[in-house]
Amino acid sequence: MADKDSRAGSRYADEAILAYVHRVHAAHDPGLDAAFTSPDRDQMPAIQVGPSEGRLLELVLRLVGARRVVEVGTLAGYSAIRMARALPEEGRLWTIEVSPAHAEVARRNIAAAGLDARVEVLVGEASAVLPTLEQHGPFDAVFIDADKESYDSYGRWAARHLRQGGLLLGDNAYLFGRLVDDTPTAAAMRRFHEEAARAFDSVCIPTPDGLLLGIKK
Ligand code: SAH
Ligand code: DHB
Ligand code: MG
Repeated sequence: MADKDSRAGSRYADEAILAYVHRVHAAHDPGLDAAFTSPDRDQMPAIQVGPSEGRLLELVLRLVGARRVVEVGTLAGYSAIRMARALPEEGRLWTIEVSPAHAEVARRNIAAAGLDARVEVLVGEASAVLPTLEQHGPFDAVFIDADKESYDSYGRWAARHLRQGGLLLGDNAYLFGRLVDDTPTAAAMRRFHEEAARAFDSVCIPTPDGLLLGIKK
């Protein structure tokens, strides 16, 4: 951010620039490519994180030496594959998905990427599954990317079950441009931000969708 326009939110990246930086810094090998293109092939919404956001997730997990990670919202397993690659051999990622169809596709993509020993796909409502994971905590990182009206409650769970210095990550933190609207979902997303700002050293990284990053105090 270096001038008034970009500070106010205008962006210099266009399609050609994004294609270039994705290719240089966040290129896909066959396992990642299969998972990234899977939603379009497998009748699922193509709402996975972008290549650079996925790469960012991988690199920040490496920075904190993450070994135990929880993801809320698996879809086809693209972000899960990125994050699992940041883990050591004995590391573990638990990823929660409410749709059995999505979970089945994700398991296939994760196995094809050679990561099924490190990743467990759990089917169910995150609010019901998260308590079953507490025995494996405290965790090094929690990535929230599912139903937006529950981010505040997932964020509170993360604050309780992350280690000190552990990472909170939340996609779609701008709520598709509706973050400051007068709706219950927007109010929940704002609680997520405000509670994160209290329990974590936090920032909302200005990715296209907003990516909340917090380091637990
Ligand atoms: N993190 C994935 C994208 C997730 S899309 C990636 O970047 O590759 C959001 C997913 O959350 C969808 O598959 C949706 O079915 C799932 N989901 C929605 N509500 C949920 C809930 N209450 N519990 C668990 N999963 C949920
Ligand atoms: C939607 C969900 C996401 O997590 C995302 O990154 C984009 C869109 C959605 O529910 O439409
Ligand atoms: Mg998302």
